Amino acid sequence: MIEKLDAIGSQALKDLETAASLDRLEQVRISVLGKKGALSEVLKSLGAVSAEERPKIGAVANEWKRKIDAALELRKAQLDKAALDVQLAQERVDISLPARTPHRGALHPITQTTQRIIQVFSRIGFDVVTGPEVETDYLNFEAANIPADHPARDMQDTFFMGPGVVLRTHTTSVQMRMMRAQSWPVRILCPGAVYRSDSDATHSPMFHQIEGLWVDQNVKMSDLKGTLLFFAQELFGADAKIRLRPSYFPFVEPGAEVDVSCFQCRTKISPTCRVCKGSGWLEILGAGMVHPRLFDVAGYGEDYRSKNLTGFAFGLGIERIAMLLYGIPDLRLMFQGDVRFLNQF
Ligand code: DAH
Repeated sequence: MIEKLDAIGSQALKDLETAASLDRLEQVRISVLGKKGALSEVLKSLGAVSAEERPKIGAVANEWKRKIDAALELRKAQLDKAALDVQLAQERVDISLPARTPHRGALHPITQTTQRIIQVFSRIGFDVVTGPEVETDYLNFEAANIPADHPARDMQDTFFMGPGVVLRTHTTSVQMRMMRAQSWPVRILCPGAVYRSDSDATHSPMFHQIEGLWVDQNVKMSDLKGTLLFFAQELFGADAKIRLRPSYFPFVEPGAEVDVSCFQCRTKISPTCRVCKGSGWLEILGAGMVHPRLFDVAGYGEDYRSKNLTGFAFGLGIERIAMLLYGIPDLRLMFQGDVRFLNQF
């Protein structure tokens, strides 16, 4: 029996030494040490051996098992290393290959437009300020002279966050915050995201506005007009004209909607113009003289009455301006993150 064990053992060691793959190694292991392996088979017949022979044979079998295990481990390490060497040789980095050109990111058209508008107004002394997007009902509506029963408060328009808290529906809320927080003069520009429950080709539940506010003594409607003309010409070209149409916004009196002359129909209005639909004008913003009630909310009421404190405000939608400037046909393109669209800017 011991001879049999020796024969199995030395054959196994030979086989292991020459095993050329991990698969082959496993085969050898099973054929010797597996449940039905050669070594195991011999040990099964141990029962027939006399009691004094048994421990000797057992010891020999254990010794072979130990040797085979060690040989297995050694060969496995060798094969692993060989495999790794092959892999390293195959995956060698070819540093002579030309590099991939990195994709250069660009600013989103909304960001670009916002920055252009800020640039124009900072040249005439406007400071940029921001406010929270989650706003109190009071600062978004009440303080801006929008009473509780105003249509702008309708559930369809406003996202309510909880009692007395809304997602701001316009950046006019920042105007109210700033006036309450500081005394006049105020000359600020407030860019930021605003929210309304509305969605189609020209409306998005989240969009961006810029609010402008100038409060000082003797600020007149003509100052508003001059400021907006400067803005229009800087943005749309030196020959741009503006016109003010009377309109109603609760926070200004008088209020106006402001149009800029169509930059597509520069020399002659074309009845088939795709930009202005043949009217020659493009509506770009709302504006007006700050309503006296807002001065009371701000704590400026006394100066309004005794020091001729006045002011003008305006608010514009950045997406709309970007669509006009870049000829973007559908608002939703701005928020889809499609690289083919974004690459064009
Ligand atoms: N808050 C207005 C809106 O969201 C825009 C606006 C109109 C702002 C007139 C103003 C303004 O400051 O004077 O539609």
